[in-house]
Amino acid sequence: MEAVIKVGGSLSEYPECLRRLCRSLSGLVRVHPFLVLPGGGMFADVVRVLDRRFGLSDAAAHRMAVLGMDIYGLFLSDLTPNSRICYSLGEAERLSKSGTLPILLPSRLVFREDQLEHSWDVTSDSIAAWVAGLLHVEKLILVTDVDGVFTEDPKRSRDAEFVGEIRASELLEWGERTSVDRFLPRLLLRERLDCFVVNGRYPERVEAVLEGRGSVYTRIKA
Ligand SMILES: Nc1ncnc2c1ncn2[C@@H]1O[C@H](COP(=O)(O)OP(=O)(O)O)[C@@H](O)[C@H]1O
Ligand SMILES: [Mg+2]
Repeated sequence: MEAVIKVGGSLSEYPECLRRLCRSLSGLVRVHPFLVLPGGGMFADVVRVLDRRFGLSDAAAHRMAVLGMDIYGLFLSDLTPNSRICYSLGEAERLSKSGTLPILLPSRLVFREDQLEHSWDVTSDSIAAWVAGLLHVEKLILVTDVDGVFTEDPKRSRDAEFVGEIRASELLEWGERTSVDRFLPRLLLRERLDCFVVNGRYPERVEAVLEGRGSVYTRIKA
């Protein structure tokens, strides 16, 4: 396995782009074996609302949000030709080797291992990094709806500047969530893993990362 690719929930706002991305990934897996890890998107947002309203326990909120990733994974599998859902890393390895795109529904693995803290700082970005660490892949690719990491939220601030490359330790010092969650830099440092944040509305950029070519993306260096 070469890579773990997280497909963010934000992309569900762009139906044509997301369909195109899924079709593109289904071809790429034959050349570069990888697995897809789903984001939580709107399903995790429902859990955020319930948590705010009811003050859920951290454990319950965490598990509910992870189940949201399973739902988004089922959704992605319906858009992705040549894909199969799976629940274990072994199954994912077998599928990717045979040229079928594995979409890992993470709930069983996360519930059983339970190695990540239960907080909203740990989202699907961190879970993807954790999975990438377990598989010892070379690349973690986080596919989202903006070009990468900016100095501020590019959807809210005209002054936001694009960051092409940043060290995980530096991002950790920022101490805030960007297009990736707050816990991610810690895991990248621990696993000595490089991470690429890429805009999924341009599938050719994801292909460029898989092929080790330059393009528009943020590289977070461990
Ligand atoms: N500093 C920042 N740089 C980039 N994006 C940011 C930043 N701060 C906030 N964002 C927001 O983060 C969003 C992507 O993260 P998120 O909503 O978790 O989506 P996903 O998990 O689907 O990739 C972007 O749409 C952007 O508006
Ligand atoms: Mg996110």
